[in-house]
Amino acid sequence: MNKADKESTIKVYSGLLRDNGTDSSLGLGWSSKRTQETRFRVLTEIASLAGHSLLDGGCGVGDLYGYLRRREIAVDYCGLDVCPQMLTAARSKYPAAEFLPGELDASNLGRRFDYVLISGAFNWTISDNFGVARRGLRQAWEICRKGVACNFLSSREPYKVDYLYYFSPEDMKAYAESFAGEVTMRHDYKMNDFTLYLYKESEF
Ligand SMILES: C[S@@+](CC[C@H](N)C(=O)[O-])C[C@H]1O[C@@H](n2cnc3c(N)ncnc32)[C@H](O)[C@@H]1O
Repeated sequence: MNKADKESTIKVYSGLLRDNGTDSSLGLGWSSKRTQETRFRVLTEIASLAGHSLLDGGCGVGDLYGYLRRREIAVDYCGLDVCPQMLTAARSKYPAAEFLPGELDASNLGRRFDYVLISGAFNWTISDNFGVARRGLRQAWEICRKGVACNFLSSREPYKVDYLYYFSPEDMKAYAESFAGEVTMRHDYKMNDFTLYLYKESEF
């Protein structure tokens, strides 16, 4: 992200967190716990995750870690987020998990993970959502050993608002297919959201 987009992302998400607290999905920009967890469910259906390492890109307060723990899916979890206030809240909410500062679309991690899961990181409107999302997806692909699952707000949403960015499912799938051999799109769980699964090796 450029400097202005990074500052605006941090301002928006730290403000949502301050106003709504760490236990409300509103603090993360989700309309309800149910919609947040529907997205977690679909992301985690990419494969059998137990026993694998997992990067939660744009982790917020780390609720994906809590979701996996409640389902007794043991993974080697690491959360990554650009917003320092989110990381402070995540460390306090889930002290046993690892959380790192960083940007999904910048090559700054120097580590690889079996799976990279990304929920909602590209939703808020910035100057270049399409570019940041494409670089983020590509970077996730570079650092994963097995696969990437990433969701996006869908341009099929009939009631759009300016502050959120809606991606064309067809364009994002075509972009993923330009470098990943096997790509599956899920657009079956919400009208306004879709998930791409990118696989390094066939799961079938
Ligand atoms: C909608 S919230 C979702 C949080 C979490 N994934 C969840 O579903 O509970 C999006 C999060 O992505 C982070 N984010 C946005 N753009 C990012 C980027 N380029 N790199 C890393 N984190 C980013 C924000 O700071 C925010 O915490």
